[in-house]
Amino acid sequence: MRFAASLVAATAVCLATINNAHAYGILGHTLTGQVAQRFLTKETERQVKEILSPYYDGLLSKAAPWPDTIKGQAKYRWASILHYVNTPGDDPPETCHMEYNFSGKDVINGLFNMTATLKHYKVTGPTTPEDKSIREDALRFFVHFMGDLHQPLHTSGKLRGGNDAPTKWRRAKSNLHRIWDSQMIMKDIQDRYDNNPKSYLDDMLEMTSNIWQPEASNWTFCDPAIFKVDNPWYDTTKDIKTLCPVEWATSMNALACSFAWKDYDPLKDYSADYFENATGQKNGYLVQKLITMSGIRMAAILNEIYDPPCPMQKRVQFVKQG
Ligand SMILES: *[C@@H]1O[C@H](CO)[C@@H](O)[C@H](O)[C@H]1NC(C)=O
Ligand SMILES: *[C@@H]1O[C@H](CO)[C@@H](O)[C@H](O)[C@H]1NC(C)=O
Ligand SMILES: *[C@@H]1O[C@H](CO)[C@@H](O)[C@H](O)[C@H]1NC(C)=O
Ligand SMILES: *[C@@H]1O[C@H](CO)[C@@H](O)[C@H](O)[C@H]1NC(C)=O
Repeated sequence: MRFAASLVAATAVCLATINNAHAYGILGHTLTGQVAQRFLTKETERQVKEILSPYYDGLLSKAAPWPDTIKGQAKYRWASILHYVNTPGDDPPETCHMEYNFSGKDVINGLFNMTATLKHYKVTGPTTPEDKSIREDALRFFVHFMGDLHQPLHTSGKLRGGNDAPTKWRRAKSNLHRIWDSQMIMKDIQDRYDNNPKSYLDDMLEMTSNIWQPEASNWTFCDPAIFKVDNPWYDTTKDIKTLCPVEWATSMNALACSFAWKDYDPLKDYSADYFENATGQKNGYLVQKLITMSGIRMAAILNEIYDPPCPMQKRVQFVKQG
């Protein structure tokens, strides 16, 4: 018997092919967008298509990698520090904690900003071409930051999120950050999915409705009010009940500590046991799970903005097929 996650109102399945699998980070971001697209309602999907330039064909997966491509542009300099959050005083794996406040600029802040911007234009409507372009940027950043936030090393400041933590990977040099951004995903697709990203995606959707199902139904539950203190975007975003970046970052930071940084050793080849632990059954196919979690949360927020009053937690249905 097959099980598939489906959303009552969402019928469109948009699975773009992934051509650029070797460009770092693109694959992960594309996959989060593809998962999200599966969980958009028809109405949300229609509005997303309206917001994005025709080039994107209404696909979140095509828009998701964009923020990495404009990092060098002066116009977007403000956004370059919004891809991650540093965690002062945090020294994984020995001591880990995240005590977040809204005084800085980081991925949490950025997500609130982008969500508030989307919500603002949803309420008032863009009037000028400039408004429309700000809105499109906000959507592209939103989708990207949701992916970044669910990569544990983007919530752990140590050695620049592992960028400066050398490792071995298939006997060549790498670093911990790159392994999480792309190398584990690529190897997993090669080893277990016949190098076919679409099978990898299909399996994630399938696992959402079986082995991950008990926890998956919780992924979109949270309480935004817990983190309202000093949150400059609270008033604009408080109606969005599935928006909880502080909570998510805190749990990703804990994962960075308990898993990503555990037994860090620059001489170890990370393509062996470590890869098995991160991608195999023993830990619930963790790497795939994080991608899926990011996509489902992304869709929940977009549905709340563009197709209220039904937040995701009331709409996901796990139905048996065939
Ligand atoms: C907020 O966080 C920053 C960075 O972690 C820290 O330097 C600052 O002291 C914190 N401010 C408050 C009021 O806690
Ligand atoms: C919020 O986003 C806008 C672009 O939409 C940007 O100009 C601004 O600097 C951001 N604010 C913060 C505090 O990051
Ligand atoms: C889901 O969330 C509820 C409420 O927070 C909690 O009691 C329950 O243990 C969670 N279930 C899983 C499988 O994580
Ligand atoms: C893999 O996980 C096991 C526990 O399940 C642990 O003992 C081992 O240290 C881990 N190996 C690596 C390389 O992370």
